[in-house]
Amino acid sequence: MKKSVDVSKGYVDEKIDAGTDLRAEIARMKKEKRAVILAHYYTRPEVQDAADFVGDSLALSQKAAETDAEIILFAGVHFMAETAKILSPGKKVLMPDLTAGCSLADSCRAGEFERFLRDYPDHTVVSYVNTTVGVKALTDITCTSSNAVRIVEALPAGEKIVFAPDRNLGNYIKSVTGREDMVVWDGACHVHDRFSVEKILELKKAHPGAKVLAHPECKKVVLMVADVVGSTAALLDFCGRSEADEFIVVTEPGIIHQMRKADPGKTFIPVPPSDASCGCNDCAYMKQMTLEKIYLTLRYELPEIVIDEAIRARAERSIRRMLEMS
Ligand code: 13P
Ligand code: SF4
Repeated sequence: MKKSVDVSKGYVDEKIDAGTDLRAEIARMKKEKRAVILAHYYTRPEVQDAADFVGDSLALSQKAAETDAEIILFAGVHFMAETAKILSPGKKVLMPDLTAGCSLADSCRAGEFERFLRDYPDHTVVSYVNTTVGVKALTDITCTSSNAVRIVEALPAGEKIVFAPDRNLGNYIKSVTGREDMVVWDGACHVHDRFSVEKILELKKAHPGAKVLAHPECKKVVLMVADVVGSTAALLDFCGRSEADEFIVVTEPGIIHQMRKADPGKTFIPVPPSDASCGCNDCAYMKQMTLEKIYLTLRYELPEIVIDEAIRARAERSIRRMLEMS
């Protein structure tokens, strides 16, 4: 009889034999099952190192759309794995822990968003990829931090726009594009919203030559003191091209793993949150991805992302429009 696997907690809850070589087993099963592991830059260093591809939200969705692997194992947060399933419905999309959510996606529920949109019937709806499938199904064009400005700029002048769910990114887009009448949903990411400008200025005083790199999910006052504002991939790319030796990193510190790998001689300084009891500003959801969970997920091919087909097809249109425009 086939062993039943307990995934009631959102992940495979099983003890792993001591002495299991997790890295070797993951590599072996990946090959045997024709699986690909996609990981976001904010995951733990050892998770990024076990992945076939590490990237920002845009690159990860592009990979998910084009891979010929039979199984996609997504090490990131729920909306990212869901996006992979929306784009590759015929593939098995696995996620090591289904409870790894996103405070930004949680700040915009589909039912509430649908009611909100009734006040804006003639608006084009642009939503950040950090949303649930239900919100994407109500969206005309999805975007990521890599292409949000370009997508809004590509819409004809005078076109009415609703942007959701991140108020900081929305206000940043307004400031760059001058589309001041864009209606912005009032959501935020708890990680990026709690960086304080005072902490950054203190670090800047201690490291006067350092460049300040910020993600557009940060508050306006933080973006105002940044030398560069961009997606995780754009910030990483900037470090590689810059002649500076020191960088103050105002985004989730997981990205520093790739920054150090690319430029081991440079110094990358994480910024603590404003209410710091510890020195880090981790996204706890991203850190739910562990090698143990990846091993168990590959072994049992559970838990799997499952989406209702009608809603998936509606959400896919908005992501395909983004991919065409990218
Ligand atoms: P990127 O698309 O820039 O990787 O951002 C994803 C994210 O969740 C930022 O908090
Ligand atoms: Fe969501 Fe913020 Fe975590 Fe990014 S850092 S996944 S926006 S909670």
